[in-house]
Amino acid sequence: MSKAPKSTAFPHRHLLGIEGLSPDEISLLLDRSEKYVEQNRKADKKQATLRGRTIINLFFEPSTRTQTSFELAGKRLGADVINMSVATSSVRKGETLIDTAMTLNAMHPDVLAVRHPDSGAIKLLSDKVNCAVINGGDGTHEHPTQALLDALTIRRRKGRLEGLLVAICGDVLHSRVARSNIHLLNTMGARVRVIAPRTLVPSSIERLGVEVFHDMRAGLQDCDIVMMLRLQSERMQGNFFPSVREYFHFFGLDYEKLAAAKPDALIMHPGPMNRGVEIDSLVADDFGRSVIREQVEIGVAVRMAVLEILSANIPPPADRNL
Ligand code: NCD
Repeated sequence: MSKAPKSTAFPHRHLLGIEGLSPDEISLLLDRSEKYVEQNRKADKKQATLRGRTIINLFFEPSTRTQTSFELAGKRLGADVINMSVATSSVRKGETLIDTAMTLNAMHPDVLAVRHPDSGAIKLLSDKVNCAVINGGDGTHEHPTQALLDALTIRRRKGRLEGLLVAICGDVLHSRVARSNIHLLNTMGARVRVIAPRTLVPSSIERLGVEVFHDMRAGLQDCDIVMMLRLQSERMQGNFFPSVREYFHFFGLDYEKLAAAKPDALIMHPGPMNRGVEIDSLVADDFGRSVIREQVEIGVAVRMAVLEILSANIPPPADRNL
């Protein structure tokens, strides 16, 4: 049994997903992130809150923004941050996920930020180590810090989450970003639609509390937020749509389809983008409406808040039990 975490406002050792977090817990994370957005815009971005703490980034899948963002977040809080490159680690020699985790755990990190291609793998790992674990994306399951940064981007622009109509469009089937966003937005009182071809929505998605559309113009009607997803070809076995050209024709976001949404609807994408596949370049780069760059900026602040809050909960290695 792990010792009770110190914080009663956020009584969790790990951040494995958004599912199960309360509105107050989500608001706490978002509110705490706000001060870091401001701090990150200053010349001196560094503070000593996490001095002496060790954070290990353990990424079993390629990543540009999430891994860099965790690294910057840890360093700006004064922690030591190590990036474990799986390409050169013992994982290549056949070491299992759990052995790798136990080896790293023996070096007394305070936080492991982990990305893994298998849904559920990070929960399994978190049961074997005595530090805090942050899910940086597990298979098609959850990507909680992405949903938090999306929520803060929306809240800063629209002033609220409650009552907004949000469309999540594209490859929902393979998207952990979609799942985490659906949980968060529903918990915070927004209404969520998913818009996708029939082949790219999980059959039971309505159970998560979303409305399903298979036509972009119908689904985007009156939406406040248009969140596009990457077509995740690396997770596809078989054919999910006839051709990229046809996919763009029916589901790619261009100005014509966007016209169905509210005139001040925000355009979002977690990155990396396939330009000309799920989103037209002109729309992606329309910085009057596209907040794609802002999402990346806010991602660092959100990860700082998560690191700060979880680190406050984790006792020194000598006092930790599994
Ligand atoms: C997402 C991911 O890895 O799940 N990217 C990210 O973290 N910014 C989305 C994606 O890969 O399409």
